[in-house]
Amino acid sequence: MSNENKGKELNVLILAAGLGTRMRSNLAKVLHKLDGRPLINHVCRTATALAPSKIFVVIGHQGEDVTAAVLDEIDPELVEFVVQEKQLGTGDAVNSARACLADEDSTLLVLSGDVPLIRAETLASLVQQHHDHRGKGAAATILTVALKDPSGYGRVVRDDGGFFDRIVEQKDAGENELSVKEINSGIYCFDTIKLFEALSRISNDNAQGEYYLTDAPRILRQAGESVSLYKHRDQREIEGINDRSQLAVMEREVRRRTINKLMLDYGVSFIDPKNVYVSARTSIGRDTVIHPNVVVEGDSVIGDGCELRSGTRIADSRLGNGVTVLDNCVITGAIVGNDCSIGPFAHLRPKACMADGSRVGNFVEMKNTTLGRRSKANHLTYLGDATIGEDTNIGAGTITCNYDGQNKHRTEIGDRVKIGSDTMLIAPIKVGNGVVTGAGTVANKDIPDNKLAVGAPARFIKTLANDGE
Ligand code: UD1
Ligand code: CA
Repeated sequence: MSNENKGKELNVLILAAGLGTRMRSNLAKVLHKLDGRPLINHVCRTATALAPSKIFVVIGHQGEDVTAAVLDEIDPELVEFVVQEKQLGTGDAVNSARACLADEDSTLLVLSGDVPLIRAETLASLVQQHHDHRGKGAAATILTVALKDPSGYGRVVRDDGGFFDRIVEQKDAGENELSVKEINSGIYCFDTIKLFEALSRISNDNAQGEYYLTDAPRILRQAGESVSLYKHRDQREIEGINDRSQLAVMEREVRRRTINKLMLDYGVSFIDPKNVYVSARTSIGRDTVIHPNVVVEGDSVIGDGCELRSGTRIADSRLGNGVTVLDNCVITGAIVGNDCSIGPFAHLRPKACMADGSRVGNFVEMKNTTLGRRSKANHLTYLGDATIGEDTNIGAGTITCNYDGQNKHRTEIGDRVKIGSDTMLIAPIKVGNGVVTGAGTVANKDIPDNKLAVGAPARFIKTLANDGE
């Protein structure tokens, strides 16, 4: 027996055109976020891991936004968008790709944009079973799972021999069918040509007046083709999101897994694991301690032996080893070296860079600014578009006045500088090494090395003995 499926090219098709009425939202369902990323992005990433020839995404509701989300996740070369003008059902959705796919002698893996936790390994073995079925491959293979509470899902009805007979949607099901526990995951593998032949024969004569993709396997079976069932064990992987309550339950589960893994595999301590939000893409080092009500989002990296106190949010940032973040800080797009101290109540905005051993304290905001090694800005300060050298102290209430109403300008501060309290540095400005400014100084021109500058506007009253070098 020759295996006609083996070695066939694999394409993936993702259904993402529906609005998702049950979400009661103005946002298309697949754009709702799980673990900080749209549902569709999770599915796209998994699909990419299978290295298919092409990924087709069926778009409709908010197609432009869905397109943008998809392109955020996968290479534009790999993806093709197919528009489903009216959402007439999942069968019609697949049928929208007829012009691209119907004549392709290939295997088509159909995924749902609202089933985000499916793993690439599971899909790979589904495809393998599809190709190997009875030594010659199947026309369709359906991923199923048995659920204690199957309500809401399409039921997979088997014949007396235990083979696939049909899928019945909940709304079309009779009493006997409703008692079936095995459900359709909405994930399937098809012989592409046979699928499109079957799709041209489906009707919308059902409770929802929709063209169901689930009718295609039945049509194939009735035509004498083989339809195989891949029964999976892990129901979590297969759960679909139809409403916000399911989304919240899944969010909690994803978070629980992330935090468990960080504790057991990476040696991170959580004082109260239930009250911490950590994105699955974050990496956190050994012996770091995380207090309640900390949020770590995006692709953040946190080193070993750090301590994150309560009320802090860290997003897309890198923290070195031995960093202390005191209570109530916001850190986004920042890079922090080793042994730094931040907060309480500090705000590190994008491109804030703290070199090793530097400190930023109460009510200090940094943006697009580098603070040199062992330098400090401990109180009530704004540092924007600035470069600050090593061993420099920025006094309380210092402001880099970086914006003249039209343009942003840079402030450069040297090494071993002491900026006095309440100093205004009007950019563009360079402050040399070893400079000291008096309290309340308004500096509107460059200050040469080792000057003591005071007043408003600043006068240079004497040159200081250079004891720093
Ligand atoms: C579908 C299956 C059901 C299965 C369940 C698994 C059908 C008829 N039913 O039901 O057997 O148990 O998934 O989660 O297929 N979509 C479109 N265009 C449309 C309609 C839907 O692109 O015209 C997309 C949606 O955006 C979504 C996916 O298809 O991503 C599934 O649609 P949904 O309406 O959620 O189907 P279910 O009722 O959950
Ligand atoms: Ca669904």
